[in-house]
Amino acid sequence: MGNQNNSKMYSAEITAVGMYVPEKIMDNKYMESIVDTNDEWIVTRTGIRERRLLENGATSDLAAGAAKDLFTTTDVKPEEIDVIIVATVTPDMMFPATACLVQEKIGATNAWGFDMSAACSGFLFALQTGASLIQGGQYKNVLVLGADKMSSITDYTDRNTCILFGDAGAAVLLQRTDNKELGIQNSILRIDGSGKESLNMKGGGSLNPPTHETIDNKMHYIYQDGQAVFKVAVKGMADVSAEMMEMQGLKPEDVAYLVPHQANLRIIDATARRMGLEKEKVMINIDKYGNTTAATIPLCLVEYYRDGKIKKGDNLILSAFGAGFTWGATHLVWSLD
Ligand code: COA
Repeated sequence: MGNQNNSKMYSAEITAVGMYVPEKIMDNKYMESIVDTNDEWIVTRTGIRERRLLENGATSDLAAGAAKDLFTTTDVKPEEIDVIIVATVTPDMMFPATACLVQEKIGATNAWGFDMSAACSGFLFALQTGASLIQGGQYKNVLVLGADKMSSITDYTDRNTCILFGDAGAAVLLQRTDNKELGIQNSILRIDGSGKESLNMKGGGSLNPPTHETIDNKMHYIYQDGQAVFKVAVKGMADVSAEMMEMQGLKPEDVAYLVPHQANLRIIDATARRMGLEKEKVMINIDKYGNTTAATIPLCLVEYYRDGKIKKGDNLILSAFGAGFTWGATHLVWSLD
Protein backbone atom coordinates (compact mmCIF):
# COMPACT_ATOMS: atom_id res chain seq x y z
CA MET A 1 0.00 0.00 0.00
CA GLY A 2 1.34 3.40 -0.90
CA ASN A 3 1.15 6.93 0.26
CA GLN A 4 -2.48 7.95 0.66
CA ASN A 5 -1.63 11.53 -0.30
CA ASN A 6 -1.10 10.46 -3.93
CA SER A 7 -4.87 10.26 -4.32
CA LYS A 8 -5.52 13.63 -2.59
CA MET A 9 -5.75 17.07 -4.14
CA TYR A 10 -3.52 18.63 -1.50
CA SER A 11 -1.38 17.74 1.47
CA ALA A 12 -1.86 19.15 4.97
CA GLU A 13 1.34 20.38 6.59
CA ILE A 14 2.12 21.73 10.05
CA THR A 15 3.21 25.36 9.65
CA ALA A 16 3.10 26.57 13.27
CA VAL A 17 3.05 25.09 16.77
CA GLY A 18 2.34 26.29 20.31
CA MET A 19 2.07 25.02 23.86
CA TYR A 20 0.82 25.95 27.29
CA VAL A 21 1.73 24.30 30.56
CA PRO A 22 0.60 25.68 33.93
CA GLU A 23 3.32 26.96 36.27
CA LYS A 24 2.46 24.86 39.30
CA ILE A 25 4.63 21.72 39.49
CA MET A 26 3.73 18.57 41.43
CA ASP A 27 7.00 16.63 41.73
CA ASN A 28 7.38 13.09 43.07
CA LYS A 29 8.29 14.43 46.51
CA TYR A 30 4.92 16.19 46.58
CA MET A 31 3.15 12.97 45.49
CA GLU A 32 4.92 11.19 48.40
CA SER A 33 3.30 13.72 50.74
CA ILE A 34 -0.26 12.96 49.58
CA VAL A 35 -0.28 9.18 48.88
CA ASP A 36 1.75 6.11 49.92
CA THR A 37 4.32 6.16 47.13
CA ASN A 38 7.93 7.02 46.52
CA ASP A 39 10.09 8.67 43.90
CA GLU A 40 11.96 5.46 43.08
CA TRP A 41 8.74 3.48 42.39
CA ILE A 42 7.31 6.21 40.20
CA VAL A 43 10.52 6.77 38.19
CA THR A 44 11.30 3.09 37.59
CA ARG A 45 7.69 2.08 36.77
CA THR A 46 6.69 5.10 34.71
CA GLY A 47 9.61 7.47 33.99
CA ILE A 48 7.66 10.40 35.50
CA ARG A 49 9.37 12.94 37.79
CA GLU A 50 7.00 15.93 37.63
CA ARG A 51 3.55 16.88 36.38
CA ARG A 52 1.78 20.26 36.07
CA LEU A 53 -1.40 21.42 37.79
CA LEU A 54 -3.80 24.05 36.48
CA GLU A 55 -5.05 25.69 39.68
CA ASN A 56 -7.51 28.12 38.10
CA GLY A 57 -9.28 27.63 34.81
CA ALA A 58 -10.30 24.78 32.58
CA THR A 59 -9.27 22.81 29.50
CA SER A 60 -10.29 25.65 27.17
CA ASP A 61 -7.71 27.84 28.94
CA LEU A 62 -4.98 25.25 28.30
CA ALA A 63 -6.05 24.98 24.65
CA ALA A 64 -6.45 28.75 24.15
CA GLY A 65 -3.09 29.35 25.87
CA ALA A 66 -1.43 26.97 23.40
CA ALA A 67 -3.23 28.59 20.45
CA LYS A 68 -2.20 32.09 21.55
CA ASP A 69 1.41 30.90 21.79
CA LEU A 70 1.09 29.48 18.27
CA PHE A 71 -0.27 32.75 16.86
CA THR A 72 2.85 34.59 18.09
CA THR A 73 4.88 32.48 15.63
CA THR A 74 2.84 32.80 12.40
CA ASP A 75 1.40 35.45 10.08
CA VAL A 76 -1.90 33.56 10.06
CA LYS A 77 -4.52 35.45 12.10
CA PRO A 78 -7.17 33.81 14.31
CA GLU A 79 -9.89 35.09 11.96
CA GLU A 80 -8.30 33.11 9.11
CA ILE A 81 -8.85 29.78 10.88
CA ASP A 82 -11.49 27.67 9.11
CA VAL A 83 -11.84 24.82 11.62
CA ILE A 84 -10.91 24.28 15.29
CA ILE A 85 -10.63 20.69 16.52
CA VAL A 86 -10.07 20.17 20.24
CA ALA A 87 -8.98 16.68 21.28
CA THR A 88 -9.87 16.22 24.94
CA VAL A 89 -11.51 13.94 27.50
CA THR A 90 -11.85 16.76 29.99
CA PRO A 91 -14.11 19.23 28.19
CA ASP A 92 -14.99 22.33 30.22
CA MET A 93 -18.58 21.01 30.31
CA MET A 94 -20.73 18.42 28.56
CA PHE A 95 -21.78 21.12 26.15
CA PRO A 96 -21.10 23.51 24.52
CA ALA A 97 -18.04 21.94 22.96
CA THR A 98 -14.68 23.16 24.20
CA ALA A 99 -13.95 24.14 20.57
CA CYS A 100 -16.65 26.84 20.90
CA LEU A 101 -15.11 28.16 24.12
CA VAL A 102 -11.66 28.24 22.53
CA GLN A 103 -13.08 29.97 19.43
CA GLU A 104 -14.33 32.81 21.61
CA LYS A 105 -11.13 33.03 23.68
CA ILE A 106 -8.86 33.35 20.63
CA GLY A 107 -11.19 35.39 18.41
CA ALA A 108 -11.41 32.87 15.55
CA THR A 109 -14.45 34.67 14.19
CA ASN A 110 -14.80 32.70 10.94
CA ALA A 111 -14.27 29.19 12.27
CA TRP A 112 -16.47 26.20 12.92
CA GLY A 113 -15.25 23.32 15.01
CA PHE A 114 -15.85 20.41 17.30
CA ASP A 115 -14.35 18.26 20.07
CA MET A 116 -12.73 14.89 19.47
CA SER A 117 -13.08 12.33 22.24
CA ALA A 118 -10.48 9.62 21.77
CA ALA A 119 -8.59 9.87 25.08
CA CYS A 120 -4.83 9.44 24.68
CA SER A 121 -5.18 8.91 20.91
CA GLY A 122 -7.21 12.11 20.61
CA PHE A 123 -4.50 14.21 19.02
CA LEU A 124 -3.79 11.59 16.33
CA PHE A 125 -7.48 11.24 15.51
CA ALA A 126 -7.89 15.04 15.41
CA LEU A 127 -4.77 15.50 13.28
CA GLN A 128 -5.94 13.00 10.66
CA THR A 129 -9.45 14.50 10.69
CA GLY A 130 -8.01 17.99 10.18
CA ALA A 131 -5.75 16.72 7.41
CA SER A 132 -8.69 15.06 5.65
CA LEU A 133 -10.64 18.34 5.71
CA ILE A 134 -7.71 20.02 3.97
CA GLN A 135 -6.71 17.24 1.57
CA GLY A 136 -10.08 17.33 -0.20
CA GLY A 137 -9.59 21.03 -0.94
CA GLN A 138 -12.46 22.41 1.17
CA TYR A 139 -10.42 24.16 3.88
CA LYS A 140 -7.05 25.88 4.12
CA ASN A 141 -6.35 26.47 7.81
CA VAL A 142 -7.23 23.98 10.55
CA LEU A 143 -6.20 24.49 14.16
CA VAL A 144 -5.69 21.15 15.92
CA LEU A 145 -5.48 21.31 19.71
CA GLY A 146 -4.72 18.60 22.25
CA ALA A 147 -5.60 19.72 25.77
CA ASP A 148 -6.53 18.02 29.00
CA LYS A 149 -6.99 19.16 32.56
CA MET A 150 -6.48 15.63 33.88
CA SER A 151 -6.35 16.95 37.46
CA SER A 152 -10.11 17.59 37.18
CA ILE A 153 -10.85 13.84 36.93
CA THR A 154 -7.96 12.46 39.01
CA ASP A 155 -8.52 10.98 42.47
CA TYR A 156 -5.61 12.31 44.52
CA THR A 157 -6.17 9.59 47.13
CA ASP A 158 -5.58 6.79 44.56
CA ARG A 159 -1.86 6.11 44.20
CA ASN A 160 -2.47 3.83 41.20
CA THR A 161 -3.56 6.73 39.01
CA CYS A 162 -2.74 10.10 40.61
CA ILE A 163 1.00 9.83 40.02
CA LEU A 164 0.45 9.36 36.28
CA PHE A 165 -1.45 12.39 35.03
CA GLY A 166 -0.87 16.11 34.47
CA ASP A 167 -2.42 19.19 32.82
CA ALA A 168 -1.26 20.73 29.52
CA GLY A 169 -2.33 22.01 26.13
CA ALA A 170 -0.57 22.07 22.77
CA ALA A 171 -1.49 23.25 19.29
CA VAL A 172 -0.57 22.76 15.65
CA LEU A 173 -1.72 24.72 12.62
CA LEU A 174 -2.47 22.54 9.61
CA GLN A 175 -2.33 24.34 6.26
CA ARG A 176 -2.94 23.36 2.68
CA THR A 177 0.11 22.75 0.50
CA ASP A 178 0.62 21.53 -3.07
CA ASN A 179 3.81 19.75 -1.99
CA LYS A 180 2.60 16.23 -1.26
CA GLU A 181 6.02 15.23 0.09
CA LEU A 182 5.33 17.33 3.21
CA GLY A 183 2.83 17.01 6.03
CA ILE A 184 0.52 14.17 7.02
CA GLN A 185 1.34 11.23 4.75
CA ASN A 186 -0.74 8.39 6.18
CA SER A 187 -2.50 7.18 9.33
CA ILE A 188 -3.65 3.87 10.73
CA LEU A 189 -6.34 4.52 13.34
CA ARG A 190 -8.25 1.93 15.37
CA ILE A 191 -10.95 1.68 18.07
CA ASP A 192 -12.08 -1.34 20.11
CA GLY A 193 -14.88 -0.84 22.62
CA SER A 194 -14.25 -4.18 24.29
CA GLY A 195 -11.54 -2.32 26.23
CA LYS A 196 -14.10 -0.07 27.94
CA GLU A 197 -13.91 -1.81 31.34
CA SER A 198 -10.13 -1.40 31.69
CA LEU A 199 -9.90 2.38 31.44
CA ASN A 200 -12.82 4.75 31.88
CA MET A 201 -14.65 7.43 33.79
CA LYS A 202 -18.16 6.08 34.19
CA GLY A 203 -19.93 8.89 36.01
CA GLY A 204 -21.48 12.04 34.65
CA GLY A 205 -22.65 10.80 31.25
CA SER A 206 -26.06 9.51 30.16
CA LEU A 207 -25.36 6.00 31.50
CA ASN A 208 -24.66 7.26 35.02
CA PRO A 209 -25.91 10.83 35.40
CA PRO A 210 -24.40 12.49 38.47
CA THR A 211 -26.05 11.53 41.75
CA HIS A 212 -24.85 11.42 45.34
CA GLU A 213 -24.28 7.71 44.75
CA THR A 214 -22.06 8.18 41.67
CA ILE A 215 -20.01 10.70 43.62
CA ASP A 216 -19.75 8.41 46.67
CA ASN A 217 -18.59 5.61 44.35
CA LYS A 218 -15.95 7.93 42.86
CA MET A 219 -17.34 7.42 39.37
CA HIS A 220 -16.30 10.93 38.32
CA TYR A 221 -12.64 9.91 38.52
CA ILE A 222 -10.38 7.97 36.15
CA TYR A 223 -10.50 4.23 36.68
CA GLN A 224 -7.64 2.19 35.23
CA ASP A 225 -6.67 -1.48 35.44
CA GLY A 226 -3.00 -0.60 34.91
CA GLN A 227 -1.66 -4.07 34.13
CA ALA A 228 -4.45 -4.92 31.67
CA VAL A 229 -3.97 -1.64 29.82
CA PHE A 230 -0.19 -2.00 29.91
CA LYS A 231 -0.29 -5.32 28.03
CA VAL A 232 -2.57 -4.17 25.21
CA ALA A 233 -0.90 -0.76 24.99
CA VAL A 234 2.53 -2.30 24.40
CA LYS A 235 1.19 -4.57 21.66
CA GLY A 236 -1.15 -1.97 20.12
CA MET A 237 1.40 0.83 19.86
CA ALA A 238 4.25 -1.40 18.72
CA ASP A 239 2.15 -3.22 16.08
CA VAL A 240 0.67 -0.13 14.53
CA SER A 241 3.97 1.79 14.50
CA ALA A 242 5.81 -1.08 12.80
CA GLU A 243 2.90 -1.46 10.35
CA MET A 244 3.09 2.25 9.51
CA MET A 245 6.81 2.02 8.73
CA GLU A 246 6.21 -0.97 6.49
CA MET A 247 3.25 0.67 4.72
CA GLN A 248 5.32 3.79 4.00
CA GLY A 249 8.42 1.83 3.01
CA LEU A 250 10.44 3.38 5.85
CA LYS A 251 13.52 1.66 7.31
CA PRO A 252 14.73 2.58 10.82
CA GLU A 253 17.44 4.78 9.27
CA ASP A 254 14.75 6.76 7.38
CA VAL A 255 12.89 7.70 10.58
CA ALA A 256 14.12 10.82 12.40
CA TYR A 257 11.89 10.31 15.46
CA LEU A 258 9.20 8.20 17.02
CA VAL A 259 6.78 10.64 18.71
CA PRO A 260 4.98 8.41 21.19
CA HIS A 261 2.10 9.15 23.52
CA GLN A 262 3.72 9.65 26.92
CA ALA A 263 1.92 7.21 29.24
CA ASN A 264 4.75 5.03 30.44
CA LEU A 265 8.44 4.94 29.52
CA ARG A 266 8.37 1.13 29.41
CA ILE A 267 5.59 1.14 26.76
CA ILE A 268 7.58 3.70 24.75
CA ASP A 269 10.79 1.63 24.97
CA ALA A 270 8.98 -1.50 23.77
CA THR A 271 7.51 0.38 20.79
CA ALA A 272 10.92 1.79 19.80
CA ARG A 273 12.55 -1.65 20.05
CA ARG A 274 9.90 -3.16 17.76
CA MET A 275 10.55 -0.37 15.21
CA GLY A 276 14.31 -0.95 15.39
CA LEU A 277 14.93 2.63 16.62
CA GLU A 278 17.67 3.56 19.06
CA LYS A 279 16.79 5.66 22.14
CA GLU A 280 18.11 8.88 20.59
CA LYS A 281 15.32 8.70 18.01
CA VAL A 282 12.49 8.70 20.55
CA MET A 283 10.89 11.92 21.77
CA ILE A 284 10.53 11.88 25.55
CA ASN A 285 9.22 14.49 27.98
CA ILE A 286 7.12 12.26 30.25
CA ASP A 287 9.63 13.01 33.04
CA LYS A 288 8.51 16.68 33.06
CA TYR A 289 4.77 16.46 32.41
CA GLY A 290 3.52 12.90 33.04
CA ASN A 291 0.56 11.75 30.98
CA THR A 292 -1.31 14.81 29.70
CA THR A 293 -3.60 12.63 27.51
CA ALA A 294 -4.39 14.51 24.26
CA ALA A 295 -1.53 16.96 24.77
CA THR A 296 1.45 14.59 24.99
CA ILE A 297 2.29 14.22 21.28
CA PRO A 298 1.98 17.88 20.24
CA LEU A 299 3.84 18.91 23.42
CA CYS A 300 6.76 16.72 22.32
CA LEU A 301 6.65 18.18 18.81
CA VAL A 302 6.74 21.76 20.11
CA GLU A 303 9.59 21.16 22.55
CA TYR A 304 11.79 19.18 20.15
CA TYR A 305 11.16 21.69 17.35
CA ARG A 306 11.99 24.66 19.57
CA ASP A 307 15.15 22.88 20.77
CA GLY A 308 16.25 22.66 17.12
CA LYS A 309 16.07 18.87 17.07
CA ILE A 310 13.64 18.44 14.12
CA LYS A 311 14.25 19.79 10.64
CA LYS A 312 12.28 20.17 7.43
CA GLY A 313 11.87 16.86 5.62
CA ASP A 314 12.27 14.68 8.73
CA ASN A 315 10.11 11.55 8.81
CA LEU A 316 8.25 11.33 12.10
CA ILE A 317 6.10 8.41 13.28
CA LEU A 318 3.45 9.57 15.77
CA SER A 319 1.98 6.77 17.85
CA ALA A 320 -0.62 6.52 20.62
CA PHE A 321 -2.78 4.19 22.68
CA GLY A 322 -5.63 5.14 24.99
CA ALA A 323 -9.01 4.51 26.57
CA GLY A 324 -11.71 3.00 24.40
CA PHE A 325 -9.50 1.33 23.41
CA THR A 326 -8.22 3.78 20.80
CA TRP A 327 -4.86 3.60 19.09
CA GLY A 328 -3.01 4.52 15.96
CA ALA A 329 0.08 5.74 14.15
CA THR A 330 0.66 8.59 11.71
CA HIS A 331 3.52 9.27 9.29
CA LEU A 332 4.26 13.00 9.30
CA VAL A 333 6.94 14.76 7.26
CA TRP A 334 8.04 17.88 9.13
CA SER A 335 7.68 21.19 7.25
CA LEU A 336 9.19 23.85 9.47
CA ASP A 337 12.85 24.92 9.18
N1 COA B 1 3.50 3.86 44.48
C1 COA B 1 3.90 2.72 45.06
N2 COA B 1 3.31 1.53 44.79
C2 COA B 1 2.30 1.53 43.92
C3 COA B 1 1.84 2.69 43.28
C4 COA B 1 2.49 3.89 43.60
N3 COA B 1 2.14 5.06 43.05
N4 COA B 1 0.84 2.38 42.45
C5 COA B 1 0.67 1.06 42.55
N5 COA B 1 1.54 0.53 43.43
C6 COA B 1 1.68 -0.85 43.85
C7 COA B 1 0.44 -1.65 43.58
O1 COA B 1 -0.47 -1.48 44.64
C8 COA B 1 1.00 -3.04 43.51
O2 COA B 1 1.19 -3.52 44.84
P1 COA B 1 0.80 -5.02 45.22
O3 COA B 1 1.70 -5.87 44.35
O4 COA B 1 1.13 -5.06 46.68
O5 COA B 1 -0.63 -5.13 44.88
C9 COA B 1 2.38 -2.84 42.91
O6 COA B 1 2.71 -1.47 43.09
C10 COA B 1 2.45 -3.17 41.41
O7 COA B 1 1.35 -2.55 40.76
P2 COA B 1 1.11 -2.72 39.24
O8 COA B 1 -0.21 -2.11 38.88
O9 COA B 1 1.35 -4.15 38.87
O10 COA B 1 2.28 -1.87 38.64
P3 COA B 1 2.72 -1.74 37.16
O11 COA B 1 4.13 -2.14 37.04
O12 COA B 1 1.73 -2.40 36.22
O13 COA B 1 2.67 -0.17 36.93
C11 COA B 1 1.25 1.42 35.82
C12 COA B 1 1.45 0.52 37.04
C13 COA B 1 -0.09 2.13 35.94
C14 COA B 1 2.37 2.42 35.83
C15 COA B 1 1.30 0.57 34.53
O14 COA B 1 0.47 -0.53 34.67
C16 COA B 1 0.91 1.32 33.29
O15 COA B 1 1.60 2.21 32.85
N6 COA B 1 -0.18 0.91 32.66
C17 COA B 1 -0.60 1.44 31.34
C18 COA B 1 -0.97 2.88 31.37
C19 COA B 1 -1.41 3.29 29.98
O16 COA B 1 -0.70 3.12 29.01
N7 COA B 1 -2.59 3.82 29.86
C20 COA B 1 -3.11 4.07 28.53
C21 COA B 1 -3.00 5.44 28.16
S1 COA B 1 -3.66 6.53 29.34
